[in-house]
Amino acid sequence: MPVIAFVGNKGGAGKTTLAVNMGAGLARHAETAIVDADPQGSSVHWYANSDEVRVTPVFPAESELLDQIRDLKAKFAYVIADCPPSVHAPQTDAILKMADVALVPVQPSPVDLWATVHIEQAIAEAKQINPALHAVLVVNQLESRSTLSQLIREALAEIAVPVANTVVRKRAVYKASALEGRTVFDMGKRGADAAKELDQLIKEVIRP
Ligand SMILES: Nc1ncnc2c1ncn2[C@@H]1O[C@H](COP(=O)(O)OP(=O)(O)OP(=O)(O)O)[C@@H](O)[C@H]1O
Ligand SMILES: [Mg+2]
Repeated sequence: MPVIAFVGNKGGAGKTTLAVNMGAGLARHAETAIVDADPQGSSVHWYANSDEVRVTPVFPAESELLDQIRDLKAKFAYVIADCPPSVHAPQTDAILKMADVALVPVQPSPVDLWATVHIEQAIAEAKQINPALHAVLVVNQLESRSTLSQLIREALAEIAVPVANTVVRKRAVYKASALEGRTVFDMGKRGADAAKELDQLIKEVIRP
């Protein structure tokens, strides 16, 4: 079943936040597992900090990562991979060659957008082996009430990877929920707007 990789070449773009939260959103439709392919282990930490009601298990990466993902694919409807913040990492390289969807969170700042040149190359290379790979940039941490500036729109349009129409806004509840070992889907009213935008993103890029 589909493997969804959260990749990028920039630390702190939101890979783990989106992996864990979209994992919870997907788990409401079908069984979902997360593989923490980042040696930093952030998703594993989040999972260890969560309570028993959690529905999205997080597995630390095993040495035979691709075999591990193949095994999980047989058991779960969706397998999410949270990758390290480098396209040169062997984990990112391996996962891009077998993923169905690669989501690349980017912050709407010029410095972050310049860094996407490496991800463009990595995706182009992966597509030679995995032509079905569907890669999408996701604008994350857009300031709450602002819209994308013309400058950022132009910079995004130059990147050879399509951009999701749905943007993820900067919201305190993403941090607050992580601190509590939760996701925005189990934060009640406080998480409702965030859950709504992630549901919309899931519908746009994973479950049309
Ligand atoms: N939409 C958002 N709104 C508010 N805070 C966010 C949002 N997305 C991410 N963050 C915060 O930004 C920080 C970095 O996010 P995260 O750890 O998910 O990035 P990452 O790409 O996984 O980083 P790394 O490359 O180090 O693995 C975290 O403190 C997280 O809580
Ligand atoms: Mg991370």
